[in-house]
Amino acid sequence: MAHQILFMRLPHAHCIVDATAGNGKDTLFLAKHARSDARVWAFDIQEEAIIKTKQLLLDNQYQNKVKCILDSHCNIDHYIKEKVDIVTFNLGYLPGSSHTITTSAETTIQAINKSIQLLNGNGIITIVAYPGHMSGKAENNELLAQLSKLPQAEFNVGCWQMLNQVNEPPVLYIVEKKRGEVREGFASRED
Ligand SMILES: C[S@@+](CC[C@H](N)C(=O)[O-])C[C@H]1O[C@@H](n2cnc3c(N)ncnc32)[C@H](O)[C@@H]1O
Repeated sequence: MAHQILFMRLPHAHCIVDATAGNGKDTLFLAKHARSDARVWAFDIQEEAIIKTKQLLLDNQYQNKVKCILDSHCNIDHYIKEKVDIVTFNLGYLPGSSHTITTSAETTIQAINKSIQLLNGNGIITIVAYPGHMSGKAENNELLAQLSKLPQAEFNVGCWQMLNQVNEPPVLYIVEKKRGEVREGFASRED
């Protein structure tokens, strides 16, 4: 579902961010369907993830379209100095690797807040959250609380979830920035 939403937006996007590169599958999807003049950024805190993402891009000859960054997505503003059209988060842990290294509510909210500041009018953020594991549940609760507070005049915010899946299925959040400037983002956990 996230890919379908992104797919519709990619032809109009110039600056695209995969905030959680992982094994690179989402990054490859973005690079493959982005315009030829688009720039894709991919962030991950694990070197293993960045190596895998770079290799997957290389295998598919999309390496020149993507800048891979070994750093937290909450530092997105240290690297990206232009407006962004798409930011996508696929939260949780690296499939096939340690389950202890996972996204956390605090840094995820910081990264979304910064992404909102960078987002172009009509730009979107998609976030897939996994409430089926313990830290994922806390993260999802925080996301629901914070995203629900975004002002209706400036954002369209929605969520989507399978209803007939067992064990707390993933939740997809979609944040669309309406045209016009945003005065401020939502509060971080410390606020
Ligand atoms: C579910 S995986 C992403 C899957 C990936 N998009 C794919 O297509 O394979 C989540 C990733 O988020 C990364 N991650 C965790 N905390 C992060 C952070 N603060 N900044 C960037 N990436 C983070 C993990 O290392 C892990 O690789």
